[in-house]
Amino acid sequence: MNKLSLKGKKAFVAGIGDDQGFGWAIAKELADAGCEIIVGTWTPILKIFTTSLSNGKFDASRKLSDGSLLEFAKVYALDASFDTPEDVPEDIKENKRYKSASGYTVTEVAQQIEKDFGKIDYVIHSLANGPEVKKPLLETSRSGYLAAISSSSYSFVSLVQHFGPLMNQGGATINLTYMASEKAIPGYGGGMSSAKAALESDTRTLAFEAGRKWGIRINAISAGPLGSRAAKAIGFIDDMINYSHANAPIQKDLKASEIANTALFLVSPMASAITGSTIYVDNGMHAMGLAVDSAALSSNEA
Ligand SMILES: NC(=O)c1ccc[n+]([C@@H]2O[C@H](COP(=O)([O-])OP(=O)(O)OC[C@H]3O[C@@H](n4cnc5c(N)ncnc54)[C@H](O)[C@@H]3O)[C@@H](O)[C@H]2O)c1
Repeated sequence: MNKLSLKGKKAFVAGIGDDQGFGWAIAKELADAGCEIIVGTWTPILKIFTTSLSNGKFDASRKLSDGSLLEFAKVYALDASFDTPEDVPEDIKENKRYKSASGYTVTEVAQQIEKDFGKIDYVIHSLANGPEVKKPLLETSRSGYLAAISSSSYSFVSLVQHFGPLMNQGGATINLTYMASEKAIPGYGGGMSSAKAALESDTRTLAFEAGRKWGIRINAISAGPLGSRAAKAIGFIDDMINYSHANAPIQKDLKASEIANTALFLVSPMASAITGSTIYVDNGMHAMGLAVDSAALSSNEA
């Protein structure tokens, strides 16, 4: 039996808004292994995503290894900053990109998925948002910092809380983190570095609690830089890609599919004893303590 086969399994992938990010790549890899894919797309971009999907804009990226096209069983509107309808402020409810949507808070999406699909096996959290990400931490407001934590870290706690009860024993969840959680990366501001540190810490604590409660595994992938829509919005992603290319042990661009391969392994029974871990998929960049291309190094042989 192929131990990486996910035939008969169902995954909820939260945080797909186009075909460029990690969420899409992970959905595609899991689908290629036979998994049914349910998607959560941020409420304000749901319409543009589903329209682009049905217009064929993503068709070239939908090709699976057997030639068929990646299909989503259902795409739900999701705003993972809110747990219940009572949490949604009036101005958001009335916002034109939210007004026609409903049922997008975490509890509502979990309930609806249970109604539509019954039990599921995997939850992938591939989302983050820091409204003040371009500001250094020293200039970040309290509300910007808390918004980053709410959207990027507590959103994972909330997903595990509300999806855990509908996950099959042996199920698995994954979130995506970044090295700025543990090393200072100037430019990754607005409290996003703090949010990723919280996410990694929560990965360990939730691994214990959810492992004992529901028999599911919780892991994080610490990914190297990828030019996704979210990363481009931060503004310095091309520099980070170049920096990684110049300084990482493996000198090549990182592909989203490499993160997706790791995600497939992590949810599969091959990783049945791995939980509470943060796995680096970054061409080894995290292992470096020195920028080997630094002009300050007198004999630069890299
Ligand atoms: N791109 C990188 O270099 C990089 C590196 C390490 C980690 N990551 C992490 O990978 C994950 C996926 O990001 P990506 O780079 O693939 O970009 P992406 O733009 O494809 O994905 C981020 C998604 O989060 C969604 N989102 C934002 N706020 C949300 C909310 N409140 N509720 C629901 N969805 C919301 C966005 O709409 C978007 O679809 C993020 O956690 C990111 O921090 C990215």
